[in-house]
Amino acid sequence: MPSPPPAARTVLVTGGAGYIGSHTVLQLLKGGFRVVVVDNLDNSSEVAIDRVRELAREFGKNLFFHQVDIRDREALEKVFSSTKFDAVMHFAGLKAVGESVKKPLLYYNNNLIGTINLFEVMTAHGCKKLVFSSSATVYGWPKEVPCTEDFPLCAMNPYGRTKLMTEDICRDICKGDSDWDMILLRYFNPVGAHPSGYIGEDPHGIPNNLMPFVQQVAVGRRPAVTIFGKDYSTKDGTGVRDYIHVLDLADGHIAAMQKLFEGSQIGCEVYNLGTGKGTSVLEMVAAFEKACGKKIPLIMAGRRPGDAEIVYASTAKAEKELHWKAKYGIEDMCRDQWNWASKNPWGYGSPDSMNGKHPTSGSPDTTNGKHPTKRSPETPNGKRLTCGLPETANGKHPTYGSPTATNGFTETANGKHATCRLAEAVNLKHPICGSPEDAIGKHHSHGSVETSKGKSPPYVSREIASGKHPTYGLPKNANGNYPTSQKHHFLST
Ligand code: NAD
Ligand code: UD1
Repeated sequence: MPSPPPAARTVLVTGGAGYIGSHTVLQLLKGGFRVVVVDNLDNSSEVAIDRVRELAREFGKNLFFHQVDIRDREALEKVFSSTKFDAVMHFAGLKAVGESVKKPLLYYNNNLIGTINLFEVMTAHGCKKLVFSSSATVYGWPKEVPCTEDFPLCAMNPYGRTKLMTEDICRDICKGDSDWDMILLRYFNPVGAHPSGYIGEDPHGIPNNLMPFVQQVAVGRRPAVTIFGKDYSTKDGTGVRDYIHVLDLADGHIAAMQKLFEGSQIGCEVYNLGTGKGTSVLEMVAAFEKACGKKIPLIMAGRRPGDAEIVYASTAKAEKELHWKAKYGIEDMCRDQWNWASKNPWGYGSPDSMNGKHPTSGSPDTTNGKHPTKRSPETPNGKRLTCGLPETANGKHPTYGSPTATNGFTETANGKHATCRLAEAVNLKHPICGSPEDAIGKHHSHGSVETSKGKSPPYVSREIASGKHPTYGLPKNANGNYPTSQKHHFLST
């Protein structure tokens, strides 16, 4: 039976407000699909949906959004009861490898429970076509390159295990029920942004991946990029990856969707989405420097645990069976990423310099010129939140007065600001006393001396030889104490 024209097809996109999801939703709309997005906005903003709608022009009317967590069975049921879906594209998930190591249950709960919930609701409503966001992470440290889809699979961390387990769940479902058709797409390293500079990657907290980090250094949000390892057996000693333009990736999804509707039974198929070319970290940084016309400060460091040396894709299967091939090179990726970054240095929280209005909804800017976004609510005094803590207008931490990333200072490993007015050193040591962070990731106060256990002794006032306040040079007050109005405490030594 011939398949109906795309205009009649409705696709549910989970995680469609996110980086890859938003670019794919745009391509789906332009391809004539009706799109319903469900996203809990955990790592995204509804502004992305508004902007996609605008970029899609006349097709924008075919886009619908529900703020739903896919683990919420009742809410998902409601969405499926109100609309008949022809297929689902499943992007929703948490993706930070480091976080997954610290919080495995969060990852198994979100990525696996959420996915099982989705599959059960799909089954109940007879929707049995799926495209799933898998990852090249399932190849672990491949013995050779390029990676072909039949390589042995292994996961190196909880995040990777959620991808591998979901792949296995998909294979099992298709074995048990031949009505299901599933395409698992293993992404290599998605970078870049829509050429309009209107949508792009806007991760919450400290970026894990190379290019979002490079981008934040280029716009002055962070001081330097740390290069993880310069002793790999590669041309310049740094890791090699297969970077792919997010638009190419989005088009790969449209090709997969078309295959699902071809009419033939697919079962469970897996495809790499990459370019087939390997680029080193230093080559990528150099390409971005060229695109932005700025020098990116680098700090050479040791290897990141779990990192493979060289990973790039074999693209033959996707070319042959999906009739899809990546078009863009790293220059295009860096140009488009810089276009997005320079227009939106704070991602979807950026001020609109044009007319003081929110670019899509037309709502006015807030007092400090930032757009109201769901993910970055403003504090009552109209200031934007970063990493969970409100900033003051001059970019200082409101409680301690310590500098924020805006001024080029780094955040601590747990994404909180240092409490000592000093940037932490790259090795997470206190820049003056060299003492490490304590177990909960807090810094010792300025001037503190470690005890033998590596912890700060209790905070009590400390006199210095000159009888002046050790930081501000102020004398003791009438009570014989140093002024504490600035909320600094000093140690007795
Ligand atoms: P993203 O974080 O920008 O997008 C994921 C979206 O899912 C976010 O909008 C988030 O709010 C949403 N989400 C998370 N948990 C949810 C839940 N329980 N219910 C509803 N929504 C939820 O990430 P991305 O880079 O766009 O990645 C999309 C998918 O592709 C993810 O599954 C990721 O693991 C996978 N992937 C990404 C990369 C990459 O480098 N970006 C590489 C390989 C695979
Ligand atoms: C990482 C994850 C992978 C996940 C993918 C997409 C790890 C070990 N792997 O892949 O599971 O599917 O992201 O989310 O985390 N680099 C630096 N400095 C940085 C960041 C990265 O030098 O600040 C280097 C890395 O060592 C690597 C390259 O840049 O050589 C790319 O790193 P990244 O962007 O994190 O992607 P992957 O490691 O390929």
